[in-house]
Amino acid sequence: MPTPLSALPIRRLTMRDLTDCADLAEDRDWAREEHRWSLLLSAGTGHGIDDPDGKGLAATCVVTSYGRAPHGGELSAVGMLLIAGRHARQGLGRRLMTHVLHEAGTTPLVLHATPQGRPLYERLGFTGTGTTETVLGALRLPDPTASPVATRPATAADLPAIVRLDNEVFGADRTHILTRLPAFADRLRVAEEASTITGYAAAWPTPATDVIGPLVARDTDTAKALVTALAPGPDRPLRTSVDVRHEELLSWLKEHGLEPSALTTLMTYGIPELPGDRTRQFAPLSLATD
Ligand SMILES: CC(C)(COP(=O)(O)OP(=O)(O)OC[C@H]1O[C@@H](n2cnc3c(N)ncnc32)[C@H](O)[C@@H]1OP(=O)(O)O)[C@@H](O)C(=O)NCCC(=O)NCCS
Repeated sequence: MPTPLSALPIRRLTMRDLTDCADLAEDRDWAREEHRWSLLLSAGTGHGIDDPDGKGLAATCVVTSYGRAPHGGELSAVGMLLIAGRHARQGLGRRLMTHVLHEAGTTPLVLHATPQGRPLYERLGFTGTGTTETVLGALRLPDPTASPVATRPATAADLPAIVRLDNEVFGADRTHILTRLPAFADRLRVAEEASTITGYAAAWPTPATDVIGPLVARDTDTAKALVTALAPGPDRPLRTSVDVRHEELLSWLKEHGLEPSALTTLMTYGIPELPGDRTRQFAPLSLATD
């Protein structure tokens, strides 16, 4: 008698599960993005359920926990909730999320819900607090050198200032993610005015695109300057996910060649609103981390 899905154990995922995680993503028509999985599994906690027939993983979910910031609190981001198509609609998604909620205890949670995932999160008590639009395409700028805001590549000496700025803007301490950024990203840049860092952003690779995120900036002009400096050449597509409240940046990206690709709902559990200053958060590192 095969073990019923409801009795399959939930276990911690490790780096040894990378290929199976990517296979599961592919099974749900998501990009494999092993590079992103490796960051998430090293900086966060992966939960998984093995396929009862020995075919890799039946379910995954990654929780990235952030520390307490001086003007915020603790927060964990939930991402990569994926159920193999052959096991969908049989309660595995609810079971894994119930496990995550139990493990989180009183720590508030945030996630970006796909239209498919949203009903499940709503039933579990998550509420929507915003919308993020993913845009994709080749960025075509008439004169990439004409930006009014100066940016430069980040150096190791910038890391403490980047962490301080991020703490303030994100409202939770993401040091363990930020210290991994120089190795994870292809390019990391800062905007600086009068020796103060006013923004930073990273560009990291997937097989098909370069992704820009996180993108933290004092204002839209600074965000545009960072995107301009980080964008790949016209032959390689760029992807980024922008809070729709940043209408001006989104319109500018679309005017210069990027196309809408997906809409996700920003949802929280345990807090009505996210800490920090959302006006300076333009793009998450990835939708799995906020
Ligand atoms: C979204 C997703 C995670 C949901 O996981 P799931 O395991 O299919 O979800 P569940 O089975 O727990 O619940 C989904 C539905 O199945 C129903 N269901 C649960 N057990 C069932 C059973 N034994 N028989 C029939 N239906 C069942 C639930 O009531 C629910 O129905 P409803 O949506 O009509 O209310 C999954 O479809 C998925 O991986 N999608 C692709 C990736 C994605 O979008 N992930 C979300 C990222 S935010």
